[in-house]
Amino acid sequence: MKYDVKDIKLAKKGKLRIEWAGNNMPVLNLIRSNFQRTKPLKNVNISCCLHVTTETANLMLTLKSAGANVLLCASNPLSTQDDVAASLVKDYGIATFAVKGEDEKRYYRHINSVLDAEPNITMDDGADLVSVIHKQRKNLVKNIYAGTEETTTGVIRLRSLEHNNLLLFPIIAVNDAKTKHFFDNRYGTGQSTIDGIIRATNKLLAGCVFVVCGYGWCGRGIAQRAEGSGANVIVTEIDPLKALEAVMDGYRVMPLKNAARIGDVFVTATGDTTVIAKEHFGLMKDGAILANAGHFNVEIDIKAIKSMSVKSRLIRECNHEYTLRNKRRIYVLGEGRLINLASAEGHPASVMDMSFADQALCAEYIVKNKNKLENMVYKVPTEIDEKVALLKLNSMGIKTDILTQEQKKYLSSWEAGT
Ligand code: ADE
Repeated sequence: MKYDVKDIKLAKKGKLRIEWAGNNMPVLNLIRSNFQRTKPLKNVNISCCLHVTTETANLMLTLKSAGANVLLCASNPLSTQDDVAASLVKDYGIATFAVKGEDEKRYYRHINSVLDAEPNITMDDGADLVSVIHKQRKNLVKNIYAGTEETTTGVIRLRSLEHNNLLLFPIIAVNDAKTKHFFDNRYGTGQSTIDGIIRATNKLLAGCVFVVCGYGWCGRGIAQRAEGSGANVIVTEIDPLKALEAVMDGYRVMPLKNAARIGDVFVTATGDTTVIAKEHFGLMKDGAILANAGHFNVEIDIKAIKSMSVKSRLIRECNHEYTLRNKRRIYVLGEGRLINLASAEGHPASVMDMSFADQALCAEYIVKNKNKLENMVYKVPTEIDEKVALLKLNSMGIKTDILTQEQKKYLSSWEAGT
C-alpha cells in the first residue's frame, strides 16, 4: 500500500485518540455497525480530501466497514494530525497521504495520489479534489458516480462550476444539510476557533475587544462564544440583513476601518479574500491579534503585512509577530490558515458526528442512485437530514413531542381561521 505520513511510529498515540473521538460519535458508530452488516459501499473506490483528524479517521473506518476502498489526503496543509495519519495507515490499512506543514507541491502530489485510485465517489472539503479533476484529470470523470462537499467555501466553488455549465459529475452539498451547518459551522467553529486562539496566545478574552468579520453561521458561533468568554464583541458585515441580525443579537456593528482602531483580537470568517488588508494594519493598536476561521488563507492579507514590517519572528507556536514601521506589533496566528485546525484540533467529535453521519449516508445514497443523478449540485435528501437529527437526539436520550391527529389535520387545512 502506498502512503505518505510524517512518522509511522506516531500510530500508537493516534489510535488511542481516534478511539477517544469515537466515544463521542454515537450516530456514526450506529451507521458503522449497520454498514458492517449490509456492505452498501462494497468495492466502491472513495477518494477523500478532508482534514486529517481523529473525527475524520472515524468516518474513514465507517466507509471501510461498508466495503469501500478508501484513500485519504489532507484538505489543508496545516490541519493534519500526524499521529492520526500514521494510525490510519498502520492500524487500519487506509492509504493516507498527509503531513502537517506540507508545502503546496506535496499537498497537490497527495491529492493526485488519492485520485490515482480512480474514484467512484469523491469526498471533498473545500473542493480542491474536484478542482484538480476538472482542471487536470478529466479522464477520471467516467468512473465517478458523484461527489460530496463538506464546507461552505467548497459549495460556493462547485455552484460556480455548475452555473458556468462546467460541472462534470453530480455533487451533494453536505454543508447545506441542516444537521451540518446549523451545528458544525456554528457550535463547532465557535468553540474550536476560541480554542485555537487561546492555544496560540493564552490570552484572557474577558474584557477584550473582539472583532468578528462576517456574520454567517461560523461568525455567529464565534461571536457567541467570544461573548460568553467575557469579550466585548464587534461584528463587521457587508450584508444588511446579517448586520441587522448582529445588531439585534446585541453586538456593535461598524465598518472594519473603525473597528481596526479599537480591536484587540480580529477573526475573519467570511469566505472571501483580502478582508483584513493594508488599509487596516496601520490603524491597529500595538499587540493586535489576527486569526482566520475561513477555509482558505486569503482573508488576511499577509503579503501586505510582510511588506509593511521591519521585523518578524515566530514568538510562540502558531503565532508570528510582525513589527510594523510605526513600531506597533501585530500577531498573526496559524499563518492566516484555519485557526481551529492549525492551532487546535478542529471541531469536537460530538458535532462532527452529525456532519460525518451525513457524509456516510450520502455516500450510500450516491451508490443507490448513481444512475439517476445529473451533473448538478444537490441538497442532502431531507430523509437523511431528519434521520441524523433523530439519531442524535436518541443518542442524547432526548425525546420530543409528537403531533396528534387533530394537530396534523389543523396544520394541513386552510379553512380554520378566526
Ligand atoms: N472541520 C472542522 N473540524 C473538523 C474536524 N475535527 N475533523 C474534520 N474536519 C473538520
